[in-house]
Amino acid sequence: MTGFKWWQKAVFYQIYPRSFADGNGDGIGDFKGMNEKLTYLKDLGVDALWISPHFPSPMFDCGYDISDYENVAPEYGTLGEFKTFLDGAHALGLHVILDLVLNHTSDQHPWFLESRSSRNNPKADWYVWVDTPLNNWQSCFDGPAWTYDPERAQYYYHYFMKQQPDLNWHNPAVHQAMWGAARFWLDMGVDGFRLDAIGTIFENPMLTPHPVPMDLTGLRHFSDTARSPAERSLVEQYWREMFKYQLGQPGIHELMKELRSILNEYDGDRVLVGEDDDVTYQGDGDDELSLVFNFPLMRTDLLTPGWIRKNQEERLAALGKISPGAWACNTLGNHDCSRVYTRYSAAQPGGKTSLGTHLARLNLAVILTLRGTPFLYNGEELGMTDYLIQDASRLRDTMATWYYDRLVNDMTMDSLQAGRLAAAMSRDKNRTPMQWRNAPNGGFCPPQATPWLPVNPDYAGGVNVQQQEEDPVSLLNFYRRLLRVRKENPALKEGDYRPIHQKEEKYLAFLRSTRSQVILVVLNYSGRRFSLDFTDMGFHSARTVFSTLASSHQSLGNVSLEPFGIWIAELK
Ligand code: GLC
Repeated sequence: MTGFKWWQKAVFYQIYPRSFADGNGDGIGDFKGMNEKLTYLKDLGVDALWISPHFPSPMFDCGYDISDYENVAPEYGTLGEFKTFLDGAHALGLHVILDLVLNHTSDQHPWFLESRSSRNNPKADWYVWVDTPLNNWQSCFDGPAWTYDPERAQYYYHYFMKQQPDLNWHNPAVHQAMWGAARFWLDMGVDGFRLDAIGTIFENPMLTPHPVPMDLTGLRHFSDTARSPAERSLVEQYWREMFKYQLGQPGIHELMKELRSILNEYDGDRVLVGEDDDVTYQGDGDDELSLVFNFPLMRTDLLTPGWIRKNQEERLAALGKISPGAWACNTLGNHDCSRVYTRYSAAQPGGKTSLGTHLARLNLAVILTLRGTPFLYNGEELGMTDYLIQDASRLRDTMATWYYDRLVNDMTMDSLQAGRLAAAMSRDKNRTPMQWRNAPNGGFCPPQATPWLPVNPDYAGGVNVQQQEEDPVSLLNFYRRLLRVRKENPALKEGDYRPIHQKEEKYLAFLRSTRSQVILVVLNYSGRRFSLDFTDMGFHSARTVFSTLASSHQSLGNVSLEPFGIWIAELK
């Protein structure tokens, strides 16, 4: 497997630190807990871990508002405990990447405290300050993007919450300071970074106002109430247009190059993964980001063979324009969106109860067999589902509590109805604690502790690690098996992707090939049974490497594909 970097062959697993494992019994996940679960992760079969922000933070945006880039949040542990975790992961052959938030800091960060203290302090120009709000720009989380600071008697700009002021990246001192923080962790041995919200770093220099005839509250409410196709398409248009002058502006490529050159000073092919749709941030394939998430793949309620094929065609073509080696990065879930299990089964005819596990298996199979680096999100291996927190006082996602307050206070909505809407849009529903056992609090924390978010009670119905470990046909064991299959078959990691039977809307079939191995993947996304003929491709035999079919002996001329069946075979 020469020529491929570790991060091209790896499967990444995202850990949301607050919810993963509570080692000290206070109801909040921490590094002690993560450390204790390293063998679980190794046994699962993933190769690399992405840790969502673990830095000190007032937690207005659950850690994405950082008040010290070179430390560990006290509730998560100490720097020493982090180092123990990092070394422990490395000893097991697991890589670790951290979350680097470049666009903004917390408003409690000493940089901002100093910046706001006067108009002529050394950090006066580290954030975006103006005398009056310059236009109608909105923050994507909480209303106007310009907030008045009485201390400095000026307004500052924030793309996210007002507790997350945007850094002024036109100031070279900001580069120096942030790259210093990056080096701090690289020196310690972390294997790279996931880069948060890179599209938001620069703003349109003309400060052109957005053309949408409503503000953020209005648009959120319109999104909740729009029903007709025309309204739905207007909703999409408005979301695009409201932020178009605040996203994807010139300057990002140069910044990514700067950061890349810092990582290149280190050994071990450190990786940069960008949170954005735009693959052009992979530069020439070598000089900016290593990977950019393929978010367009997940932006649907119904994953169908046609959707996946079209996505792959467009994505791989876009990457091909960058360089032959530019690498894809596929995912179906993270801490910002509805859980894979809930999201892609709810819209299916029949609903999630009958199809959930079938679809969860198919969705894993597709992510692990498409060309590119897969990212999984903690808990999906158990089939964890969204848990709607109806009691608004238990919500922790401030984007949702802000919306709830607007609905109740500004729009005088009944609190029950507002609670339902807030629960549905809140990201808390997909951040609830990991379910380790069939025990109070899902075994996440001791019975007497209050978990930081309520635990989804479905842990008692088998959605927990301990019971699934013991059940040979559990989703967890399915994940383990399929992860092993990917590991053992080079074509699934490195191979080209070639779709076949391209007109089929019910099943997806494609080949992954290297010079020494050809793998055929067939995924039936329907309740129909098929007898399929694959003899026209010039191969004469197939050896099943993974299958959910009743018989693992299939002949290439007559593959009996059962409803929701998965067949992965090596062709000769
Ligand atoms: C990214 C994170 C999200 C966070 C936002 C602001 O989109 O994934 O969780 O709220 O950036 O930092």
